Amino acid sequence: MADAPRTVVVTGASSGIGAAIAQAFGALGWRVAIGARRVERLEDVAKEVEAAGGKVFSHRLDVTDSDSADAFCAAARAELGAVDVLVNNAGQNLSALVAQATDEELKSDLEVNLLGAMYMTRRLLPHMVERRVGDVVFIGSDSAANPRPWQSAYGAAKAGLEVFARVVEMETEGTGVRSILIRVGPTASEFGNRMPQDKLHTILESWRYWGVMRHLHWMPAESVARAVVRAVGVPVEESYTSVIEVQPGGRKKEFGG
Ligand SMILES: NC(=O)c1ccc[n+]([C@@H]2O[C@H](COP(=O)([O-])OP(=O)(O)OC[C@H]3O[C@@H](n4cnc5c(N)ncnc54)[C@H](OP(=O)(O)O)[C@@H]3O)[C@@H](O)[C@H]2O)c1
Repeated sequence: MADAPRTVVVTGASSGIGAAIAQAFGALGWRVAIGARRVERLEDVAKEVEAAGGKVFSHRLDVTDSDSADAFCAAARAELGAVDVLVNNAGQNLSALVAQATDEELKSDLEVNLLGAMYMTRRLLPHMVERRVGDVVFIGSDSAANPRPWQSAYGAAKAGLEVFARVVEMETEGTGVRSILIRVGPTASEFGNRMPQDKLHTILESWRYWGVMRHLHWMPAESVARAVVRAVGVPVEESYTSVIEVQPGGRKKEFGG
């Protein structure tokens, strides 16, 4: 039963980790609903998911917009049927020092990384509980445990996400629904490209100073995707993994003598 194709929603699937997760489920023959704001990029991912062997549905989604979340969830369920797995992956990081950040930047990081996952979970969780089956996966960050300068709102949002994931776990205990937090370390994606490139050296130096940057290794997005697939592939009656931390392999001590 665990190997039977299921239906998964992946938010923020137009690039990076979300695209890799969609492809990984596609390769298992799953029905995959992908959402993000850049629809043309979603179409490229959709072709790859289909080529990998999955049935795919792509639809514009802004996780911070209630109407968009409503429209996406209704369309996905109409097209692919009941949703078995929700992967809350959409995220952003508008790097700025607190003293220099605007209200809009701080608000936007909280909305995308925290509220967006809440909005999507609130919409799909009741159907899972009713059917007594489902997995809600949260793509978190090691920034929640090890906050970094220049990422105040992002780190705060990811810390909040861990609290939210834990409460979903408590509120669904015994229902057949799991809440799984994947705490992700440095990963190659478009995430870093959006950091202010002219300040990159200063930012990395500050992370090194505070001991939150131990090396310069990045793992491929596929490594995170594999962790997600493995976590939801275990039958709920067999085990319940609530938190998984994934870090780049092949690390060596690079800083600090
Ligand atoms: N890369 C890392 O080192 C790292 C480390 C820890 C955790 N993570 C987490 O991994 C997740 C994926 O990030 P990534 O590394 O794959 O970066 P990425 O390549 O920049 O992907 C981010 C995805 O989120 C989507 N997104 C952003 N705002 C959205 C919104 N309002 N509504 C819907 N989708 C939205 C983007 O699509 P559109 O722009 O098309 O909407 C994009 O598909 C994030 O939650 C991030 O916090 C990444």
